[in-house]
Amino acid sequence: MKNKFYITTPIYYANAKPHIGHAYTTVAADVLARLHKLQDEEVFFLTGMDEHGDKIQKAAEAQRKDPQKFVDEIGEEFKNIWEKLNIKYDNFIRTTDPKHKEAVQKVLQTIFDKGAIYKGEYEGLYCTGCEQFKNENELADGKCPDHDTIPEKTREECYLLKLAEIQPKLIKKIESDEFKITPERYKSEVLSFLKNQELKDISVSRKNLKWGVPLPFDAEHTTYVWVDAFLNYLTGLGWDGDENNIPKQWPVDVQLIGKDILRVHATIWPVILLHLGIKLPKILFTHGHILSGGKKMSKTIGNVISIEEMLEKFGVDGTRYLLMSAGTFGDDVDITMERLTEKYNADLANGLGNLVSRVIKLATDVKCENIKPEITVDFSESFKEIKLDDILLVIWNFIGQYNKEIEDNKPWELLKSDREKFEKIMKRLIGHLYGVSDWLQPFMPETSEKIKKALKTKETPMLFPRIK
Ligand code: MSP
Repeated sequence: MKNKFYITTPIYYANAKPHIGHAYTTVAADVLARLHKLQDEEVFFLTGMDEHGDKIQKAAEAQRKDPQKFVDEIGEEFKNIWEKLNIKYDNFIRTTDPKHKEAVQKVLQTIFDKGAIYKGEYEGLYCTGCEQFKNENELADGKCPDHDTIPEKTREECYLLKLAEIQPKLIKKIESDEFKITPERYKSEVLSFLKNQELKDISVSRKNLKWGVPLPFDAEHTTYVWVDAFLNYLTGLGWDGDENNIPKQWPVDVQLIGKDILRVHATIWPVILLHLGIKLPKILFTHGHILSGGKKMSKTIGNVISIEEMLEKFGVDGTRYLLMSAGTFGDDVDITMERLTEKYNADLANGLGNLVSRVIKLATDVKCENIKPEITVDFSESFKEIKLDDILLVIWNFIGQYNKEIEDNKPWELLKSDREKFEKIMKRLIGHLYGVSDWLQPFMPETSEKIKKALKTKETPMLFPRIK
């Protein structure tokens, strides 16, 4: 039987168009999904939209649009951009989907019936940008550091989910890596947060907010948007909310998230699952943010790099490559248009481009049957640790070596002077290029396909290295 691999991205807020940060996670998820497919696994890749809550209601109002129409339009923009980036997801979940809403209601009713949700009151500082209550110590000069806005002091009647009683169990699951938070420093960060205080119970409803899923046991309240959103990871597999009917792809193998949403993913999300008695995700992989010129991208600063701009300048595979090689996956990475252009010229136009054009041009003079790469590489370590940028570094190292091999041997001269040596060297080089095209499949699928076509080695079985 095939191994299964289920991977998710966060679902994106449907309040504005997709930006480079969204593309970063989604391209990474696509690369991982393709990598796992090449391992002959049964892959399910889920992405989608987070369409309820205050922030979206306000954004729709600002444009005087009906919220459903508003989110429908934004959802289309996301789908279009994913298509342009050659993202092959298996499902695009939307939280306004009636089936998702029904499942959310079923889940809340179940937890309520178990006595883990109770009516109370919550007082706190609410940041609409984060759609979260913030602790004083999370603010900088009284403002939310992520949104640069002063959170609103609110006090309202709401339903609360019990947390404290589950906290020790959650800590154990994180410590033992049964619920693995990675890279390591993010695990430490979560553990120190969980160990240093007894967490307050979580508010799971909003009273005066219309744009949400009504609570099944109190229609005056709608479901807190994060609770609604988290359940997408299960409803996106077609789950109907019944605890006895868990989809076969569960538990999720890898959840990719940005560091700003780590805390909620490491608290509210597993707490819901623990109350339901459902297995926790296997790996929560946290990546850093993309910065532009050392700063968060912002229209006011004028340092925004858009997906469209990248696509126009670097093409689909160029954009995918530049995003995945921008820096260590996990850390913050800093990009500027200038540096991206330099890297594009050095690695793609010159590095890969030169190798491809020289080998293919000279290959027309060679009989290339059954040529196989001589070099195989073991990517297991980087693959297991999800170090996508490391895999690319290794590939580009080889590209550099292969280009040097061409320069050292000057096959265009051998073609005239020593036919036998020319054939021998060219077969080696064709094998090298074939290997490169194979390794590039998950990252740059179109380019990989083009190289294979040009080498006419399409019939050769896929050679992508097996990872033990
Ligand atoms: N809707 C919630 C997620 C719910 S998941 C159950 C949300 N949406 S978001 O649209 O604001 O952000 C989605 C993802 O984009 C997050 O992982 C966030 O870290 C990521 N990014 C947003 N800006 C980013 C960068 N500048 N760089 C990299 N990723 C960033 O949060």
